Formats: sequence, C-alpha cells, structure tokens
Amino acid sequence: MVDLSVARAANATLVQSQPLVAVFIGGTSGIGHYTLRALATAEANGGKGFRAYIVGRNAKAAEEIIAECRGIYPDAQIKFVKADDISLIQAVDQACAEIIQSEEKQSQDPRIDYLMLSQGGSIFLPRKDTKEGLDVTMSLMYYSRMRAITKLLPLLLKSTLPAKVVSVYAAGYEAKLYPDDLSLRDLSHYSYSQARSHMIYMHTLFLEKLAEQHQGKLSLMHIFPGLVLGPGFQRPDLPLWFRRVWRWFFVPILGPLLTVSPTECGDRMLSLASPRYPPQGTESSGATDKVVVGTDGKPGSGAYSLSRKGEAMNIKKAYEKINKDEMKKKVWDHTTKAFEVIEAGEVFTD
Ligand SMILES: NC(=O)c1ccc[n+]([C@@H]2O[C@H](COP(=O)([O-])OP(=O)(O)OC[C@H]3O[C@@H](n4cnc5c(N)ncnc54)[C@H](OP(=O)(O)O)[C@@H]3O)[C@@H](O)[C@H]2O)c1
Repeated sequence: MVDLSVARAANATLVQSQPLVAVFIGGTSGIGHYTLRALATAEANGGKGFRAYIVGRNAKAAEEIIAECRGIYPDAQIKFVKADDISLIQAVDQACAEIIQSEEKQSQDPRIDYLMLSQGGSIFLPRKDTKEGLDVTMSLMYYSRMRAITKLLPLLLKSTLPAKVVSVYAAGYEAKLYPDDLSLRDLSHYSYSQARSHMIYMHTLFLEKLAEQHQGKLSLMHIFPGLVLGPGFQRPDLPLWFRRVWRWFFVPILGPLLTVSPTECGDRMLSLASPRYPPQGTESSGATDKVVVGTDGKPGSGAYSLSRKGEAMNIKKAYEKINKDEMKKKVWDHTTKAFEVIEAGEVFTD
C-alpha cells in the first residue's frame, strides 16, 4: 500500500519539478475532475504551473470545473475540448487533433506529461454497437482509450517527465477470455462482466506492447480506483435496478466502509506520475521510491495493473492460463485493425 502522505509528497515534488501539461479525457466529471483538482491544489502550494485539457460532453460542467480550479490556482490554463460521443473513434481523432493543434499553437514546447483516460461510467448495459461497429461500453472503456493514446503519442513522446498514461477502470478483473471472439460478437458470450474481463486483458496486453515499443519514454497503467462516489453513479442510462440498489442499500449501508473520498482519489491518481512507475528500461534511474512491479512480473517494466492504493495487482494466475505472447499479438492486431477499418470509413465486424 502506498501511504496517502507518500502520494501527496510525490505530487508536491512533481509540480515543483517542472511546468506540466495534462490531458483528462472524461475530465468533465468524477475521477478526471478530482485528479485535475488535485493538480490545481498541488500547484497552488508552490508549483511551476500547468496547462490542461478536459474532454467530455457537458460544457456547463466543464465551465464549473475550470472556474473551481482557477479559484484554487488562478494561473491555471485549462481548455475544454467538447466531444459529443467519444465512443466513436472518429470523435476521439477529432478531440486529439484539437488538443495537438492547440498545444502546437500556444507553446514552443508542445507535449503531454500526463494523460488520464476515464471516459465511460455506465455499466451493466446490454451490447449496443456504434455506427463504427464497436460495442459502446467496450469502446468507451477500451478502444477509444487505446486510440487516444496512439493519436496523442507524438506529444506524449516529447515529455521529459517521462510521460504517464493512466486508464481508470477495473484493473485486476480478468476472468474468462474468448480468444477467437475478442469483440464478443456472439451474444451468448456477451454480458457486462464478460466484456469487462476482455477489456482488462486487452488493456494489459496493449499497454505492454506500447511500453515495449517506447522504452524509456512512456509509462502506462490501468487502475481500479476503488469506489469513488460521484455523479457517475446517478447517470440516467444506468439500469434502474442498479440505481435503486446503489441508492437505497449500498451508499447508506456499505458506502462509509468501502468508499474512497474524491480528494484521496484525485491525490492518488495524480501520484501515479511519480518515478515509482517508470517506463521500461529506466527502472534504476531517478526512482527515489520503491519501484512498482509491472504486468510482466518485473519491477519497473513500464506497463502496470494497479490497485486503488497504487500497488501492483496480483494478476499472474490470469495470464498463466493463456499463451501471453500469442494473445498480445492477437490483441494488438485486432485493435489496430479496428482502427484501420474505421479510419477507412468502414464498419468493423471482426
Ligand atoms: N467511480 C467509481 O467508483 C469507479 C469504480 C471503478 C471503476 N470506475 C471506472 O472509472 C471510470 C471513471 O469513473 P467516474 O466515476 O469518473 O465516471 P463519471 O463521473 O461518469 O465520468 C465519466 C466521464 O466520461 C465522459 N463520457 C462518458 N461517456 C461519454 C461519451 N459517450 N462521450 C464523451 N464523453 C463521455 C463523461 O462526460 P460528461 O459528464 O461530460 O457527459 C465524464 O467526463 C469509468 O470507466 C468507471 O467505470 C469508476
């Protein structure tokens, strides 16, 4: 367990080390919002300044978050990038293009030091395909996120931090895997928890591949944040049974025991930018704290599957059941093919 005071000290060190550029896809609510607020709070105590981009649908929420962060740290430079439906790969591309253009226009040193991916939120929905051929839930929680990383790579690779990518979802929830139906098109395979299992395997394997390709430059992690009560649990598209159980049973009875406060969550998410999570090939340089074990079981190997307190999940067993190298190639080929097909204006059907 990383002590909260250690996480907060890492944030203070981070903001004092250099001006930062951060992108929050899904930053108009919940965990993205809390992490941006943690950044503004740390900057207000002696930081060197930051630029941030928040991507989401809700312009009013974005305005309020920007005002809140400027109230904490008046020099904050924060831009809202509107994306009406980021489950569409084309919408991801547009949002990323806007961020790249804005960074290149307003700075002689365009880059991204910290990228948080927390879009999505609605769970337990039945399968529903986007017009591009991806299941909406799987796109929000996996494909759109991997697309954003690949589109923003040119700016991520310019970071001297080096850059950190944090995908907030359900690390450690690997269960069953259908290697020949990664998209779960066979409806007898599809359920929300099955989709979650696929998205988590695919996260680990895709992130590992990126960590190998960008050694020394890029550290990537996915994390289960714990239960963080926020607007996400009141979304009208959540199934009615879930909202009722949540409101009448979970929040009043179990909530106080199991939840993580928004402030703690934001501080912990920001602290993932620390040298405890180095890119592959740099584990011995600059790491003042204990380096965390990567998804391949080796310390500091650049791709991480993390618990809410920032420690490595024990995922060994899940990957012992599969031929990992073969699956990594399969997941990489599947994902990049989806992107190529959709970019060509066609519908992905694999
Ligand atoms: N909170 C928790 O306890 C918890 C626990 C485990 C896992 N997670 C996972 O962590 C992630 C973040 O959770 P959260 O609580 O921060 O969720 P949240 O409060 O619902 O925030 C989700 C963000 O994604 C954006 N978004 C959703 N669908 C979108 C779409 N189609 N197009 C564009 N933007 C879209 C939302 O934008 P708008 O608000 O502007 O519409 C919002 O900014 C989710 O994947 C969630 O499943 C959360």
